[in-house]
Amino acid sequence: MKKNITIIALAALLGSSVAIAAQQSAQVQADIDAFQNHFKAKFPEMDLDDFSKGPYSMNEDKLMQFENIMEMPPFEDSLDKGEQLWNTAFKNGKTYSSCFNGPVEKIRTQFPRWNAEAGKVENLEAMINKCRTDNGEKKIGWKKGKMAFISAYLTTAATGEEINVIVPEGDEKALAAYNKGKKFFYSKRGQLNLSCANCHIDSVGKKIRGDILSPALGQITHFPVWRGKWMRKKGNGFGTIQRRYGGCNKQVRAKPFKVHKDEYTNLEFFHTVMSNGMEISGTEYRQ
Ligand code: HEC
Repeated sequence: MKKNITIIALAALLGSSVAIAAQQSAQVQADIDAFQNHFKAKFPEMDLDDFSKGPYSMNEDKLMQFENIMEMPPFEDSLDKGEQLWNTAFKNGKTYSSCFNGPVEKIRTQFPRWNAEAGKVENLEAMINKCRTDNGEKKIGWKKGKMAFISAYLTTAATGEEINVIVPEGDEKALAAYNKGKKFFYSKRGQLNLSCANCHIDSVGKKIRGDILSPALGQITHFPVWRGKWMRKKGNGFGTIQRRYGGCNKQVRAKPFKVHKDEYTNLEFFHTVMSNGMEISGTEYRQ
């Protein structure tokens, strides 16, 4: 804390307008280390970034099938649409980039982030809609369609960028939001009475109804994803991370929460922080 004050004082002295990067909460860093070490110990042959391949990281044949599909991904048109939307001016002449800091490849990894002033977590999709309403446009749907195209475009542009979500040390409200997300992740729910952790930590690699359970580590490096299953439903196959949360709540026969309310957004905060240090792998195919 004392060190931070000195740095801030120094920055003020220098007249610097550059924001000082907040320091990671020590409690959160200890959680990250424990979370990642669990997976490293259980799968010592895997590198950190290998975990981002989800269910395919657990089975060589499936990984080959996945890699074949990714050579000519079925969703390239949608990424192009995302890029087009990103660059299309609103009625007032501004574009999305006017709402975000930095070049297009540096945007995805700024989210989710803690907004100390607002006292809440902001994720990328929320900021896309905020950008629209700030510029006099209507909100777009949260989970698929245009929202997913734009978000997927930004995820793909950020391929190779490192995830580094910060829960600022000393900010009690930020820590409380993180702890809510953490609690959500470890709470049992639904008729099946299972937590996220029961499936995506305790049962990783096991088969369940034709799926192989993916590790929670790295689950957020490639969202929105394009899923065959979602393609067969109405829509175009794309879904955001919060759409996926809803699906996983339904799997245990729990009622899904509304997207972009505190429950899933705090969960996304926790879930993403746990993968700090991993690279964004770009939008990917899933079964
Ligand atoms: C009954 C077991 C079960 C529970 C409980 C469960 N999931 Fe899942 N989840 C699955 C299955 C099956 C899949 C599809 C295969 C896979 O990726 O693991 C999946 C996929 C996912 C994916 C997509 C991973 C990817 O790379 O495509 C995410 C993210 C996810 N789950 C998060 C969660 C979260 C967060 C919770 C708690 C709210 C949760 N899951 C609870 C079974 C479960």
